[in-house]
Amino acid sequence: MVWLGRSPARRRREPYLQRVTHAPPARPAPARPSPGARDAPPDRASPPGRAAPSDREALRARFHAVRSATEALAAPLSPEDQQLQSMPSCSPTKWHRGHTTWFFEAFVLGPLGTPPHDPRFAVLFNSYYEALGPRHPRPHRGLLSRPTAAEVGVWRARVDERVDRLLTTADGATLARIAPLVTLGLAHEEQHQELLLTDILHAFAQNPLRPAYRSGGGPARLPAQGGASSVDPAPPGWVAFEEGPAEIGAAVQASAARAEFAFDNEGPRHRVWLAPYALATRLVTVGEARAFVQAGGYDTPSLWLSDGLDFVRSHGLRAPGYVKVEDGAWRVFGLDGLREARDDEPVAHLSFYEADALARFLGARLPTEAEWERAASGAPTVGNLRDTDALRPLPAAGTGLTQLYGDAWEWTASAYAPYPGYTPAAGAVGEYNGKFMVNQLVLRGGSCLTPPGHIRATYRNFWHPDTRFQVTGLRLARDLP
Ligand SMILES: [Fe+2]
Repeated sequence: MVWLGRSPARRRREPYLQRVTHAPPARPAPARPSPGARDAPPDRASPPGRAAPSDREALRARFHAVRSATEALAAPLSPEDQQLQSMPSCSPTKWHRGHTTWFFEAFVLGPLGTPPHDPRFAVLFNSYYEALGPRHPRPHRGLLSRPTAAEVGVWRARVDERVDRLLTTADGATLARIAPLVTLGLAHEEQHQELLLTDILHAFAQNPLRPAYRSGGGPARLPAQGGASSVDPAPPGWVAFEEGPAEIGAAVQASAARAEFAFDNEGPRHRVWLAPYALATRLVTVGEARAFVQAGGYDTPSLWLSDGLDFVRSHGLRAPGYVKVEDGAWRVFGLDGLREARDDEPVAHLSFYEADALARFLGARLPTEAEWERAASGAPTVGNLRDTDALRPLPAAGTGLTQLYGDAWEWTASAYAPYPGYTPAAGAVGEYNGKFMVNQLVLRGGSCLTPPGHIRATYRNFWHPDTRFQVTGLRLARDLP
């Protein structure tokens, strides 16, 4: 890639895991093992009947860490808070806690013959798995006052004990068979941890009291809000990429003893051809979005896709989600409550339609997911993820391509479609990703609410183009001659 310097001032859930490597495969990848298959091969690092202690203990430790993190995220919320469902796309906190617990009963404990804690719960907490029986309607999850939040806590503790006992006592062959499913369940729970936060934010946004998820404004080291410290950042720099082939996607490596997890929708790894392009060195900012609004961007049809213009007109949208415009100043509602936005922080809570129009206003376009992944490959997966405890996008810092991970998910111009050779797994677990590959767009890079260790270069998030309640922003791309 080539450093290009500054631009002109104006312009503008749920999977099946694979063992992966990010090295380009020399040959076609071997067939993926099915996590639900009873004939899965034993862990090659362990003789039959004995699991490697390090693998066993590492999985136990990770299991308890992820499960505890969910409870820690729910801890600031009262039982009444945990009951809220503000729209069909959002779920109550209590439901997230229960659904992620049901997942371990349905995919790990149940197939081994362990009866559920309460067989009545399955219909309440099955999300969308047709193969696993009937489900309570999604829009009505907020009507489930029973089980109570406390009862869900008891259920979680019991399942934690059972899974821990299983991981502790399983023989090597059994552990090898269930480890991929436990790993999948933990990645699934991490996805719901982010949803727990975005969903309670949307619920609190409906309350005129504007309650804050947490009080105190977060870590003391966060930059000041608005005012004199808020600067309109210089235009982004650009990093150029030459025309040529690129390998993208997660490659299967079935023989890996300690595998890196990837969802099935990240593979197979394959080759694409990219025309010359450039990516902006940072995410689009509040200042740039404000210029779009002040220039009448929401009323300029030439900037919009037809569906996008229909969407913003029909909903009366005049600014990104959670933004309140007062005398030209932007106040944004977040997990720390209502605050003044900085011009140099990334703009978030944009639909795909708004991101696309904003990119056009700024004289650029959205990148494709292949362009993004080629740029991100090899970069450390660090950034303003949930572990910074900022819980909001922060201004860019550093040189070169910044904010690749964290801050805000980056909308891409790529439809969420199967990669060449993609085949969903057989059985219920195959419903995790594949059946959603229509009418959605891919997002890359994670957000300030994404758990650390959950994101990677090949990770494909996906949402419908009208989605605004997630922490969604954009990075500019442009064609090069
Ligand atoms: Fe789920």
